[in-house]
Amino acid sequence: NDQQNTLFVIFGASGDLARRKIYPVLWYLFRDQLLPPGTRFVGYSRSTIVKKNLEEKSKPFMKITGQEKVNLSDFWDLHSFVSGSYSDDADFKKLETYLASYGSTNRIFYLALPPSVFEDVTTGIKKFCMAKSPVCHTRVIIEKPFGRDSASSAELSEHLAQLFKESQMYRIDHYLGKEMVQNLMTLRFGNGIFSHLWSRSAIASVQVTFKENIGTLGRMGYFDSFGIIRDVMQNHLLQIVALVAMARPVSISASDIRDEKVRVLRAIPPLKLEDCVIGQYTGDKNADPKSEAWFGYKDDESVPQDSQTPTFALTVLKIDNEQWEGVPFIMRAGKGLNEGKAEIRIQFKDVAGNLFGKSARRNELVMRVQPGEAIYMKINTKTPGSSGFEFHETEMDLTYKNRYTHHYIPDAYERLILDVFQGNQMNFVRADELSEAWRIFTPVLKKMEDQRIEPLKYVFGSRGPEEADEMCRKQGVEYSGTY
Ligand code: BG6
Repeated sequence: NDQQNTLFVIFGASGDLARRKIYPVLWYLFRDQLLPPGTRFVGYSRSTIVKKNLEEKSKPFMKITGQEKVNLSDFWDLHSFVSGSYSDDADFKKLETYLASYGSTNRIFYLALPPSVFEDVTTGIKKFCMAKSPVCHTRVIIEKPFGRDSASSAELSEHLAQLFKESQMYRIDHYLGKEMVQNLMTLRFGNGIFSHLWSRSAIASVQVTFKENIGTLGRMGYFDSFGIIRDVMQNHLLQIVALVAMARPVSISASDIRDEKVRVLRAIPPLKLEDCVIGQYTGDKNADPKSEAWFGYKDDESVPQDSQTPTFALTVLKIDNEQWEGVPFIMRAGKGLNEGKAEIRIQFKDVAGNLFGKSARRNELVMRVQPGEAIYMKINTKTPGSSGFEFHETEMDLTYKNRYTHHYIPDAYERLILDVFQGNQMNFVRADELSEAWRIFTPVLKKMEDQRIEPLKYVFGSRGPEEADEMCRKQGVEYSGTY
């Protein structure tokens, strides 16, 4: 209810995610006056938080400019803190007493916590801390990992379903807050030229790529037991695939959009081992020994020497429906690669015939998610000034920084947290989407682990294992100078 004040409660307030992401994003929303008036923030953590320390620690992530200083202290004035454990009823009662001292309010709970305490904390919220008044709402935000396979994810979903209605649950996939990912719907369904081309009759392949030129140093505990497929592919990249491949929703309501995403996910058979290439980076011993590139994945002391955790994966999805049969959806994700970028690349079929005596390159539509949002279309055009039909490939280019010089593009979390305040679940992952995502990936992950499939080695800073490029060629992808 928008008439009521809102308390935004951050569990794990002293942690890394809170400091780096959540406090800065709350600050941007406050700075831009996007939050409902009367919003207050309560940080909850096991250790006692000294506000001054948190302010200092969050500062480097808050992009503060000179004129904003006054507002910043107004912002911190709205914060208070409660400390306690994540499992003790008495501590949740104490939190409740504190929250209730603000009177009747809406409540948003953000779990910036490791999954090991999800169940306890959500149980505590349900038992003691739900908004009491019927005109006030309670919303719960959780962050991945939502389990590590179908069974563990279903267990978590069932636990949450016993406590909350799906309309109270906000599962964050921050890729759904990125500008270009949000633009997919408009681009596809707001442009006649694209909607007519959007199927197997014109499209040869779709590639969704996520590359990082940094390694995993510092996040080992988490990464080694998850690996790149669970870390970014089962969630971020598959969400993009769903938005690229789904049919036109009946309306732009959150439920109609999420229904269509689920429908297309249901048409994707589980991945097979032969449709995957996995890799793990080794150190580049020609690099500066002080640079990250020098270190291989296993040079990190906390990684077991026999770790087979992939830091790179390429997988080929099929979609068994009329629109997409025969079109490979290729997902590529890796750390320790030659560049950092995320993009969606739609490759169109060859021009029929060979009118000009040399074959034309395939058209491509590329949506660059980062760095630097852009949409460009690769086309063949007559070389200016040439006589006859000499042509070359060039780009029709909508690079955002050139076109949209006065537009502010918010951080993904900034948008998503604002959506939670506004009760908009469109860009959050529904339980049935999540379960479809795990259905697609669980069997192959299990096979990789049971058969102890050794990832192929690739050197930090390279394009990843060559076998991945070979797999793309086998799928009929024409190499266009980049993958
Ligand atoms: C996270 C993954 O979800 O996304 C990280 O856990 C990854 O491993 C990150 O680095 C990438 O997000 P972004 O927004 O920097 O592309």
